[in-house]
Amino acid sequence: MTTLISGGTVVTADGTLDADVLVSGEKIAAVLTRDDTRPAVTFDHEIDAAGRYVLPGGIDVHTHMEMPFGGTSSSDTFETGTRAAAWGGTTTIIDFAVQAKGTSLLATLDKWHAKADGNCAVDYGFHMIVSDVNDTTLKEMDACIAAGVNSFKMFMAYPGVFYATDGEILLAMQQAARSGATVMMHAENGIAIDQLVAQALAAGRTDPVYHGVSRPPELEGEATSRAITLAKVARCPLYIVHLSATQALQAVAEARDAGQNVFAETCPQYLYLSLDDLARPDFEGAKFVCSPPLRPAEHQASLWRGLRANDLSVVSTDHCPFCFTEQKEMGRGDFSKIPNGMPGVEHRMDLLHAGVAAGQITLPRWVEVASTTPARMFGLYPRKGVIAAGSDADIVIYDPHARQTLSAATHHMNVDYSAYEGMEITGKVVTTLCRGRPVVDDGAYVGAPGHGTFQHRGPNQYML
Ligand code: URP
Ligand code: ZN
Ligand code: ZN
Repeated sequence: MTTLISGGTVVTADGTLDADVLVSGEKIAAVLTRDDTRPAVTFDHEIDAAGRYVLPGGIDVHTHMEMPFGGTSSSDTFETGTRAAAWGGTTTIIDFAVQAKGTSLLATLDKWHAKADGNCAVDYGFHMIVSDVNDTTLKEMDACIAAGVNSFKMFMAYPGVFYATDGEILLAMQQAARSGATVMMHAENGIAIDQLVAQALAAGRTDPVYHGVSRPPELEGEATSRAITLAKVARCPLYIVHLSATQALQAVAEARDAGQNVFAETCPQYLYLSLDDLARPDFEGAKFVCSPPLRPAEHQASLWRGLRANDLSVVSTDHCPFCFTEQKEMGRGDFSKIPNGMPGVEHRMDLLHAGVAAGQITLPRWVEVASTTPARMFGLYPRKGVIAAGSDADIVIYDPHARQTLSAATHHMNVDYSAYEGMEITGKVVTTLCRGRPVVDDGAYVGAPGHGTFQHRGPNQYML
């Protein structure tokens, strides 16, 4: 089966090109510029992309589908979450397998395969969360790499749950360095934060906004600097996840200027939402509880600047949805019991396109931070992240002029609220192809669970 996507503007990280894209089976067969040199081609089917962008499928490298957390589980399954991803133009997710203390990494990986395999509408891979560092786990890291999992997330936050000491982090980083893997870090000083949380609760400050107040940006900056220092000593590539604060960004920028292999992502919630949302009345703020927390609005400008300057290389979602009723409710009267996380896998491409429309980033940079760099950072390039002959036909046809209003009433994520309720966006996905197969087409879901395949990933392609 061959398909010609004709008349569109191909957008890549390098620029834009008026070209048609020929898809054959699961792969891109050719990118054909519309000029005299274009050869004649035959095809079975044509998609008219006139007036539309033709993008490499989005790659969201930070999601949590059906993740056990805070006494409950995130509300999207791999099936519902990957379907929502496709609606929003994301054709690959990388989710986190979560090692529980006392269990093995390989058993954890098996468990996550059992959840995802046969259920995903788009392609998927895994990072491994290492919460128990010991001799066995350190040895198992190599087996994970052989199984296509080349990145390991650790936590400086959540003492007693995922938290690792500096010594444990150093050991895991040394092992990752030996094996050519990347360590991803949740960089918040959890020990100090726990004291501030206890003080807030003791003083009767129980509303959701105190989740933000008790996790100050300085403690993200401090942990980020400490992680960078540990990575330097261990000579390990470091990727800071969900960076939210100017202080943390400064630490990353300094390390990058000094030539260290340090990278960072931010997420749409930190670019668009703020501490004011956490302070919404009637417990509404609970919808916005995530860690690191939403920051005062002045941090947003530095994050956009960081994206332009490439101190922030990637935008992921940290999609970790919990329903407002029943799940977020668990923390009414005690903000520390609100499950941490926000929905967003469906809206990353649109919210970044809104940044293009607002002049915050360029069109090629949009594609770079949402698809091409994630592919390179996590060993998927050039199979994914680019529109080029030989690459997977993960293609999004995007209407840059369509208007949409984000709302829980119309989104496809399995969660009962939208963090962006009522926000008007210019731009919308028309068609999403994952390895040549339409998953969303002209306002209809035409995919199927099980089309998505596990992506065996190679090393970070930015390591110096
Ligand atoms: O609040 C968040 N970010 N929840 C998901 C888990 C994590 O730390 O990424
Ligand atoms: Zn985290
Ligand atoms: Zn996360």
